[in-house]
Amino acid sequence: MYLSRFLSIHALWVTVSSVMQPYPLVWGHYDLCKTQIYTEEGKVWDYMACQPESTDMTKYLKVKLDPPDITCGDPPETFCAMGNPYMCNNECDASTPELAHPPELMFDFEGRHPSTFWQSATWKEYPKPLQVNITLSWSKTIELTDNIVITFESGRPDQMILEKSLDYGRTWQPYQYYATDCLDAFHMDPKSVKDLSQHTVLEIICTEEYSTGYTTNSKIIHFEIKDRFAFFAGPRLRNMASLYGQLDTTKKLRDFFTVTDLRIRLLRPAVGEIFVDELHLARYFYAISDIKVRGRCKCNLHATVCVYDNSKLTCECEHNTTGPDCGKCKKNYQGRPWSPGSYLPIPKGTANTCIPSISSIGNCECFGHSNRCSYIDLLNTVICVSCKHNTRGQHCELCRLGYFRNASAQLDDENVCIECYCNPLGSIHDRCNGSGFCECKTGTTGPKCDECLPGNSWHYGCQPNVCDNELLHCQNGGTCHNNVRCLCPAAYTGILCEKLRCEEAGSCGSDSGQGAPPHGSPALLLLTTLLGIASPLVF
Ligand SMILES: *[C@@H]1O[C@H](CO)[C@@H](O)[C@H](O)[C@H]1NC(C)=O
Ligand SMILES: *[C@@H]1O[C@H](CO)[C@@H](O)[C@H](O)[C@H]1NC(C)=O
Ligand SMILES: *[C@@H]1O[C@H](CO)[C@@H](O)[C@H](O)[C@H]1NC(C)=O
Ligand SMILES: *[C@@H]1O[C@H](CO)[C@@H](O)[C@H](O)[C@H]1NC(C)=O
Repeated sequence: MYLSRFLSIHALWVTVSSVMQPYPLVWGHYDLCKTQIYTEEGKVWDYMACQPESTDMTKYLKVKLDPPDITCGDPPETFCAMGNPYMCNNECDASTPELAHPPELMFDFEGRHPSTFWQSATWKEYPKPLQVNITLSWSKTIELTDNIVITFESGRPDQMILEKSLDYGRTWQPYQYYATDCLDAFHMDPKSVKDLSQHTVLEIICTEEYSTGYTTNSKIIHFEIKDRFAFFAGPRLRNMASLYGQLDTTKKLRDFFTVTDLRIRLLRPAVGEIFVDELHLARYFYAISDIKVRGRCKCNLHATVCVYDNSKLTCECEHNTTGPDCGKCKKNYQGRPWSPGSYLPIPKGTANTCIPSISSIGNCECFGHSNRCSYIDLLNTVICVSCKHNTRGQHCELCRLGYFRNASAQLDDENVCIECYCNPLGSIHDRCNGSGFCECKTGTTGPKCDECLPGNSWHYGCQPNVCDNELLHCQNGGTCHNNVRCLCPAAYTGILCEKLRCEEAGSCGSDSGQGAPPHGSPALLLLTTLLGIASPLVF
């Protein structure tokens, strides 16, 4: 059975404020997980965050009472009338339908009189405390969307704790304490939700607002969800975007409104006076006519439909997620880590869909880089045609040669392939490895092969130095020009100006063959250079 399909999830809040002008329903657009849109590439699906409709969750719970035999009527007993403690001939008999008060009656339809209700046995064993635990279990995480409202048919209890569990009943935390005297009952100062603020919204309080005796119009106890929402969304919950923004970013706040179970711990029945009237203990018991719990299945913003099947609630997950709460990516869709959908940006929310794992691409999917597939008879396979955005491959899942994969982009991103930009002079070819490193020629380095290793200098690519200031000094007063040649004084030649010119020409004086050329003073060298003449001046 479907809890929801097309309705706005905010029916509840809309009703609440229907006296106001019609809502701008922008913030309510979480009722679709995807929609078809038209783009240059034709009709495509656009995915968005989505959640199930808020609904009456009492239809899907299991109720358990502790002690198990606490319901009245087995054996049959009499109790005093609600308003009149001296009229004590009312009967509770579990074996007679008209006189029985089983737990189911807390969740049946109310609105017709007389109301139907669950009732406990009376406090015959006073002064032993009369205590009852009522546990409501969903076996599913649900998010509360409205106040929990408990309507007592008898007076409201003197002491009660509402508790919650987030782990299917393994551990419990108090949600709110209720007492006629908080200090006396729980050693807590009385507070009301109105005393809280955005910053203290998660505080667990004890309230005395709901615990005063037997007056007819004081049968109801609230756990105030909406007042807490209002700290973020404003008094009439008009600014849901602001609340959703907070829920998106604050896990504690999200968890605060999330439960798998609720437990009502009834600790002391309404006494209405200071002393218990021991002569009429049949006056004291608990009776609850109605419990309201509104909420929605928690599907992590990946489903609008929650199915109740085999007494179990399950999200019908979209976005290629799975699990009872859509809490993980489907097999073969683990191309990036799972994450919940996001309410932001308003109004659509970000879907955070799960994407295929690269290794498991089976059918023809082109990751949005091509809108044409072609069947290759010979290979009996389908391939994407003319992949765009510098992609290539059967599914446009690879980068073209000369491009590499952008690690921060998804496979369907237009920026998925980045150009290598290998320096054409410094690299062997224009391709690079997976992190953008090009293959360099000898003497060249750097990711793009545009830097030279020591002993090399850039000259239409890296060339080994002919001369430099370290190991390859130009000699005889020569100067090193751009590391590629020595500019020699006129009398000298050779790569490092190491030879006399005359020596090379064989025209030096007769004694020129003896010994190395002298190293004259700089002034002398300059002179020789200027005059363009050789040895005669020296010797
Ligand atoms: C109710 O639950 C609490 C917490 O587990 C437990 O201590 C208490 O004994 C229970 N009360 C009854 C009446 O079962
Ligand atoms: C999930 O996977 C199926 C099969 O590849 C695909 O048709 C569908 O569009 C996917 N859904 C999303 C939301 O990515
Ligand atoms: C890599 O992809 C991210 C996400 O799409 C994008 O912001 C970024 O500009 C890309 N990097 C390059 C170098 O294109
Ligand atoms: C690419 O080459 C660089 C330099 O050799 C190396 O550090 C890096 O790990 C390589 N990346 C890949 C993905 O192979």
